[in-house]
Amino acid sequence: MRKNKHNQTPFFTQLKAYGESHVAPFDVPGHKLGKIENDLIKYVGKKTYLLDANSPIGLDHLNKPKGVILEAESLMADACRADKSYFLTNGTTTGILAMIMSVCKANDKIIMPRNVHKSVINGLILSGAVPIFVKPNIDQDLGIANDITYESIEKAIQENPDAVAIFVINPTYFGVASDLKRIVELAHKNDIIVMADEAHGAQLYFSNLLPISAMDAGVDISASSMHKTAGSFTQSSVILAQGHRINHQRLRATLNMLQSTSPSSLLMASIDVARKTMVFKGEARIQRLLKMAANVRKKLKTIPGIKIADKAYFIEKRCYDFDETKIIIKVSELGLSGFEVYQMMKDKYNIQLELAESHIVLAILTIGTKQSDLNRLYDAMKTLANDYYKLKNKLPKVEFSYMFPEVYSRPRDAYHGPKLVVSLDEAVNEVAGESVMIYPPGIPIVIPGEIITQNVVDDIKFYSTNSKALQSDLDDTMITIVDKENWMKYSEDI
Ligand SMILES: Cc1ncc(COP(=O)(O)O)c(C=O)c1O
Repeated sequence: MRKNKHNQTPFFTQLKAYGESHVAPFDVPGHKLGKIENDLIKYVGKKTYLLDANSPIGLDHLNKPKGVILEAESLMADACRADKSYFLTNGTTTGILAMIMSVCKANDKIIMPRNVHKSVINGLILSGAVPIFVKPNIDQDLGIANDITYESIEKAIQENPDAVAIFVINPTYFGVASDLKRIVELAHKNDIIVMADEAHGAQLYFSNLLPISAMDAGVDISASSMHKTAGSFTQSSVILAQGHRINHQRLRATLNMLQSTSPSSLLMASIDVARKTMVFKGEARIQRLLKMAANVRKKLKTIPGIKIADKAYFIEKRCYDFDETKIIIKVSELGLSGFEVYQMMKDKYNIQLELAESHIVLAILTIGTKQSDLNRLYDAMKTLANDYYKLKNKLPKVEFSYMFPEVYSRPRDAYHGPKLVVSLDEAVNEVAGESVMIYPPGIPIVIPGEIITQNVVDDIKFYSTNSKALQSDLDDTMITIVDKENWMKYSEDI
């Protein structure tokens, strides 16, 4: 990487010049670069609207970039040691769909951990690919699913030598990373493409103190949420790709199928400037951040009733690596669930955490994190723990029943098959017709085509009662199942 060329922000610079050029806009968007009145303009100022243009002359087209978008994408690729990058304005969700749909055709096998985000399941539905699920490392103490082992991937490849792709998460929502380099070597030896979900991994490209990034590990293609951990606006992400295994024509066609023809210039500009900041300041700021994180962890560990899962903890649990910008706080020994603490931290202390699970809460730190906010987190945790630990309340023991529901059909077949809506209790032993999950983290409890066991029903009921984050297509007490009696006729048509 030649650092000095990263001083440029080709897209943002051109966009700014366009907004300031006193152009007479007879194109869309209809706010005409902020010439209408509304409450938002009053609040954020006209300048934000000046940056919201829709592919006027000179600003290039995301669907077929040849000018400033292409230049900005090339800089992004360079910053991440990739051969090529694609800007995304509908999040890593679109990136994941595009990766799967461009690499896998219907009935192609794709090896993946079961704790994938719902967009991966949707990618399976859209492509018709067949998932070969690998069980991730399960942590019963924290109640979360972590990385996948090299050995589990090796076994999956031995059993499925015809698999076309392996899908990995780098790192998981909770920051745990797999032994990516060895997995990639093994995959490539077997002529298998590796794709990565780096929704939580954009920062890995800008520091040697974090787990290895997908591109550095040799992964063929990755989707990375610049917005989550690298400072750009929500929904702005990138696809990164390298090597000879990716068919870029097909990827472009798929992206153009999925993305809007009116991509947000504001989002693209925010990627352009975030890349520049991360190239010049990322390394030093992440180093400083990791020191701040270590300090707050050390202090949090002294609070009775609180446990901190840090890198040493995960290594002891035989996980491969851990991204220390995540702070995982185990709170269940206070007699409170993670869901309760998540809510109480907001209600009592105005602290917004990233997510909760039964036993834990998760705080995500980035280069935007301030020491004063970490102090508030520590003080609030200390007060909360002090109030509750002395009560000696015990939470009913929650077993993290990380299930591996049996697969009955491809997700696509179940999605397209005839459906019935039944109560949760009636659904036991039926085939799911929809995904049910808690979001965040968005990992489905059950996906279309899996058998709904009593365990699945119990988990849905548990999350419905204890967390506000249950997501499904229906009311929490009902679920869509496949109408098996009428299914055969349909599955032949799909
Ligand atoms: C693991 C994982 N993958 C993918 C996504 C989707 O990313 P985005 O929000 O950028 O669409 C998320 C979002 O939370 C996620 O947690």
